[in-house]
Amino acid sequence: MPSNTPRPPTPAAVLCGLAGWVPPRVVTNGELAERLDTDDAWIRTRTGIRSRHVAEPGQATSDLAVEAGRLALRTAGTDAVDAVDTVIVTTTTPDRPCPATAPVVAARLGLAGAAAFDVGAVCTGFVYGLATAAGLIASGAAGGVLLIGADTYSTIVDPLDRANAIIFGDGAGAVVLRAGEAHEPGAVGHFDLGSDGAREDLITVAAGGSRQRSTGAEPTHAELHFAMRGREVYRHAVTRMAASARIALDKAGWKTDDVDHFVPHQANLRILHSVADDLGLPRERCVTDVDAVGNTGAASIPLALADAAAGQRIRPGDRVLLTAFGGGLTWGSCLLTWPELAPPPHPHPRPERTTP
Ligand code: UT7
Repeated sequence: MPSNTPRPPTPAAVLCGLAGWVPPRVVTNGELAERLDTDDAWIRTRTGIRSRHVAEPGQATSDLAVEAGRLALRTAGTDAVDAVDTVIVTTTTPDRPCPATAPVVAARLGLAGAAAFDVGAVCTGFVYGLATAAGLIASGAAGGVLLIGADTYSTIVDPLDRANAIIFGDGAGAVVLRAGEAHEPGAVGHFDLGSDGAREDLITVAAGGSRQRSTGAEPTHAELHFAMRGREVYRHAVTRMAASARIALDKAGWKTDDVDHFVPHQANLRILHSVADDLGLPRERCVTDVDAVGNTGAASIPLALADAAAGQRIRPGDRVLLTAFGGGLTWGSCLLTWPELAPPPHPHPRPERTTP
């Protein structure tokens, strides 16, 4: 191409479909208190969680991902659906170590032949997945992407571990991204992504991978289950999410006050409020559904978005900041201006709201 010919603009990934799905079974704090040394008041005051949804025996992450993916495709326009040639599933609880979960999800959604792969960044997976999708669309490698965050933490959390069993829930959230222009509402961008593998020990499932298998030793019960050093993770979550959000805002030239909705990974209501306070954002701008679904890992941001969009709490033109933190350690943020979207169905009924 001669040097004086203007280059066509790089395509941006534009949000055009959104939905969330949780398995129907609800586990309340009261039900947990029947089998664990805990109580509803402790859980609500320490985490803001009132209930969570849990998969049925035999139900795997792909089953949840397919439900969310199907609903998200339904909310996107026909042209956008026709352009979807890539399926990304981000999860910490794949159906099995091999193969990846995305190809089976693509096949079950009638998208056989699409590029399909998993992204693993624990609870930061959705933001990493958005950045991956944006890069694939910008390079022309993808014409449209179905990105699904899905996790069934109930399969890795020891049901008798009171510190973790109270926090996590199962669910899936999905978005459809089409190729568009960077200035359009819905264009995702101004990413900040980071990691600190020196603190891999803070959030782990020790068994099931090559590290444990190569020893030849049978894994212990504890090694087979999710472990988290909660108090340390809490501190890292607040500082890393606030720092990452600031970097993304700086890249975009947005001031904190420009943010209409802050949508953080739904780790724990106290963490979300601490990050909002650190950023100088009024807590009311914090989008949260943690009371109803708990921490759903890679699903948490798209589920919270779907819940807010279904209730019309996020409206076209609103400026949205997404920030996540998870095992790895990993963290990430990105920004978008909310587009005109067909409202998704409500992903779950709201639990009765009483003052904590
Ligand atoms: O998604 C990845 C990111 N994940 C997160 O960001 C989660 C981060 N961490 C947290 O959300 C919080 O650390 C927890 C909710 C896990 C725990 O809350 P905490 O306020 O940090 O409590 P703690 O771990 O410091 O424990 C305080 C006390 C302990 O008792 P002692 O040692 O003070 O006697 C715990 O044994 O609370 C006890 N405890 C409980 N008591 C009743 C821990 N879990 C429970 C429980 N019910 N479920």
